[in-house]
Amino acid sequence: MVNLFEKKEINSILKDERFLYPEYIPEKLSFRESEIDEIVFCLKPATVGKKPTNLFVCGVPGTGKTVSSKFILNELTEFSDRINCMYINCFETNSKYSILAKATNHFGYAVPIRGMSSDEIFERFVAVIKSKKIIPIFVFDEAEQLLKDESSKELLYDLSRLNEKFGIIAGLVFISNDNMFVSLLDDRVRSSLNPSKILFEKYTSLELKEILKERSKFAFFDNVIDDEVIPLCAAHASKTGDARLAIGVLLKAARLAEKENSKKILIKHVRASFLEEKPQKIEIIENLSNQEKLIIDLLKKNKTGLTSGEIYEKLSNDFAERTLRTALSNLNEKNIIFAEKLQKGKGFTRLIKIKQ
Ligand SMILES: Nc1ncnc2c1ncn2[C@@H]1O[C@H](COP(=O)(O)OP(=O)(O)OP(=O)(O)O)[C@@H](O)[C@H]1O
Ligand SMILES: [Mg+2]
Repeated sequence: MVNLFEKKEINSILKDERFLYPEYIPEKLSFRESEIDEIVFCLKPATVGKKPTNLFVCGVPGTGKTVSSKFILNELTEFSDRINCMYINCFETNSKYSILAKATNHFGYAVPIRGMSSDEIFERFVAVIKSKKIIPIFVFDEAEQLLKDESSKELLYDLSRLNEKFGIIAGLVFISNDNMFVSLLDDRVRSSLNPSKILFEKYTSLELKEILKERSKFAFFDNVIDDEVIPLCAAHASKTGDARLAIGVLLKAARLAEKENSKKILIKHVRASFLEEKPQKIEIIENLSNQEKLIIDLLKKNKTGLTSGEIYEKLSNDFAERTLRTALSNLNEKNIIFAEKLQKGKGFTRLIKIKQ
């Protein structure tokens, strides 16, 4: 018998869908030229052994902060041998030890991923930078996660003193959705890092259309996208100005069209893909606690929103109210849910909804 997976599918629409994946770094990042120029200007002194300006890159989800930073790091790595760039996603790596271990290994000195004391690993970290005369540039993506852990707050302090204490030149870039990130830093850390802020604005519908067109060039065969499809995907994502959402909807519509053996992606496929939409940050969703996942499931079934009282009522058999309250506040912080204030009689009520 033929294996189920052996059945050949004919890809008539998607030539190579990898060009639409979030991790793909395009050769051209339209509408981000000035932000990229500004970041390059701040980091450039490092290429001649001088102190770069630290940066705080902020903006709402899907505005190109991660992809632009990775693009710049690739260019910088290619340009200079002395500079050693480290990209750290702080959702994945956020304790002092794990960050230092990752960096020390990356700089070419093998250390165990656990087992040493944090002072010991810091010594190795400093030693390898000094002996190899490296100028490290750290990019901390989802940097607000660093503020949730005492050890990583300590690391920020240590990194802010690298020059003063060890004569090491380093550049730090923090990326966050949280506009307040810098003000939440410890006073001493903030004053010695003194990062310049670069704001990534929401994309407009027109910009999203252009981005979708560019990303589509390599991903699709010719003439397989109905004229109205890209404008609809762009319009759908323009409220939040989120390119990830726009690209995700287009990819899903393309898969639905292929599944139906349609020759083209049509408006109806885009509409159907809206219904299947997931909350934007897939990588975050995978990291949620059980309580957080249950709340998300509940809110997905109640698109018009629920009050916190209703949520506690529905889940009180499974969890204590306090645990649920913490879960709600975590989801809010992760930008996955939001509360809408509504007038009810003389007072107000807050409806909790999932972000689209
Ligand atoms: N100017 C652009 N041109 C082409 N693709 C883009 C552009 N801006 C963003 N994208 C794409 O949109 C998606 C989201 O971008 P990115 O991951 O950089 O967003 P982000 O600002 O880091 O969002 P978050 O705050 O949620 O982490 C990625 O697939 C990225 O490649
Ligand atoms: Mg990002």
